[in-house]
Amino acid sequence: MIEFRNFSLTYPTGSRPALQNIDLVVPRGQFCAVAGADGAGKTTLAGVVSGVVPQMTGGETTGSARVGGRLLAETQPSELVGEVGLVMQNPFNQLSGARFSLREELAFGLENLGVERAEMIRRVDRVMADLRLTALADHSPYEISGGQQQLLAIGSALVMRPAVMVLDEPTSQLDAVATGVVFEALETLRAQGVTVILFEHRLERPARYADRVVILNEGRIAADGPPTDVLTDPRLAEWGVAPLRYTTAARRAAGRGLWESDRPLPVTLEAAAEGFTASLKSTRTAGGM
Ligand SMILES: Nc1ncnc2c1ncn2[C@@H]1O[C@H](COP(=O)(O)OP(=O)(O)O)[C@@H](O)[C@H]1O
Ligand SMILES: [Mg+2]
Repeated sequence: MIEFRNFSLTYPTGSRPALQNIDLVVPRGQFCAVAGADGAGKTTLAGVVSGVVPQMTGGETTGSARVGGRLLAETQPSELVGEVGLVMQNPFNQLSGARFSLREELAFGLENLGVERAEMIRRVDRVMADLRLTALADHSPYEISGGQQQLLAIGSALVMRPAVMVLDEPTSQLDAVATGVVFEALETLRAQGVTVILFEHRLERPARYADRVVILNEGRIAADGPPTDVLTDPRLAEWGVAPLRYTTAARRAAGRGLWESDRPLPVTLEAAAEGFTASLKSTRTAGGM
């Protein structure tokens, strides 16, 4: 479980807190998406959960932040290895620099943990298959595309089987197909009881997969709830988050009486299609009377 209580953080060079009065409890096994504009504090919050901020960056904190009962202020990132997996925004920063094939790079963290060789091979093969990286097993991590490096970074975290996975905009360089592969892998993790915290500004997939969406705005939590509530909130744009096009289309239709007034606004393609079909049917019925 992740537990923030009235947590604030100010960087040494910051004029105002990068995170302010954060109250957030994420239970084990929840898939929580955190969205917000550039500078809202997403990467900072991801860093706090993984023990990188303020330990490596500096900064003053008030309140408390705990992961699995551990007070993060008293925990070094190395103590969280195996417990919290972090996928950083820029995958290049995450390469070990010490291994020269994808297979070896994926095994790197497991070697450091002293995992037995047969188990190591099993886990690496599994992750490569899940992320469709098997064909690249013997390629250099430095000679693959940015998108493939992003998948590799995700794989390096997955292979450690952490209790908590923290992903900071992990699909920014991926096409729709590869993004789908990543979200399927996250779905599998959630089914295994892994807690997933995904920091994203693109919300199409979180709308479908996340149990919960938290909006950060200027370091504060502006909204927190199920995707269907938070992502249809009329204040979304004020918080610097673009509404989903399905929601926008339905809201415009509702303004012209073309969306059933008691039907919630949609956040997925399926819900939009269903709503427009229902509206069309009732318009036809009304017209035929
Ligand atoms: N290492 C750092 N030192 C000082 N200020 C930082 C640092 N990292 C981020 N900030 C500042 O903290 C705020 C939140 O940034 P960040 O967490 O990167 O937001 P996001 O990931 O949502 O774009 C911004 O004002 C940013 O300039
Ligand atoms: Mg960021």
